[in-house]
Amino acid sequence: MSFRNGLVAQFRQPAGRLGRIAGFVMAHRPSNRLRNRRTVELMKLQPQMNVLEIGCGPGLALLHCARLLRSGRAVGIDHSAVMIEQAAARLRTDIEAGRVELIEGGLPALENLSHCFDRIYSLNVVQFLPDLEEAFALCHGHLAPGGACYSTYQPRGKNPSRDDAIAKARQIEAAMTQAGFNCIETIELFPGKAPALCVTGAA
Ligand SMILES: C[S@@+](CC[C@H](N)C(=O)[O-])C[C@H]1O[C@@H](n2cnc3c(N)ncnc32)[C@H](O)[C@@H]1O
Repeated sequence: MSFRNGLVAQFRQPAGRLGRIAGFVMAHRPSNRLRNRRTVELMKLQPQMNVLEIGCGPGLALLHCARLLRSGRAVGIDHSAVMIEQAAARLRTDIEAGRVELIEGGLPALENLSHCFDRIYSLNVVQFLPDLEEAFALCHGHLAPGGACYSTYQPRGKNPSRDDAIAKARQIEAAMTQAGFNCIETIELFPGKAPALCVTGAA
């Protein structure tokens, strides 16, 4: 396998040395930084809100959230130990201040969370989830009344297209509908040949 293909394969569950490089790429690639920032802006966080990110990677979006929260808290889960390690380094002061908590685990880790969230979001994680309907049903069950879910996806790879972005957004919309979300809407975060689309739904 070429170095490039090996690196691309890491984005599902970064591990080892190549996984650390994948995390570095996520944290520094301008398009990923913009996608993370715009998704957090879209959520219109209030200082007292509690938020959950699924597949937090190196923690870029959690850092934006932490800057906006006061009494509220942000929780990030990721099934990659390497990503949790990188996010922990990036968010050290927010973790120490009790504003951010990181959990190493996959979606089943949500079962252990006793509290609900005002916002649950993910960025470029849906393509790795085998059952979108089950995933969004789990999110729906962890949202507080008035809460909302945000799922951003921007196709990557050799020749990503607008059609790829739209096709994935339609899948997310369908899964959210099945999971019981209302007011489902798809928003283009920034334009491009293969735009970043965020699908939102209210609990
Ligand atoms: C492409 S990266 C995106 C990371 C981050 N959201 C960002 O935008 O910078 C996908 C991340 O989702 C995590 N991930 C994939 N499937 C997951 C699952 N089922 N449960 C938890 N984390 C998952 C991976 O470990 C990886 O960190």
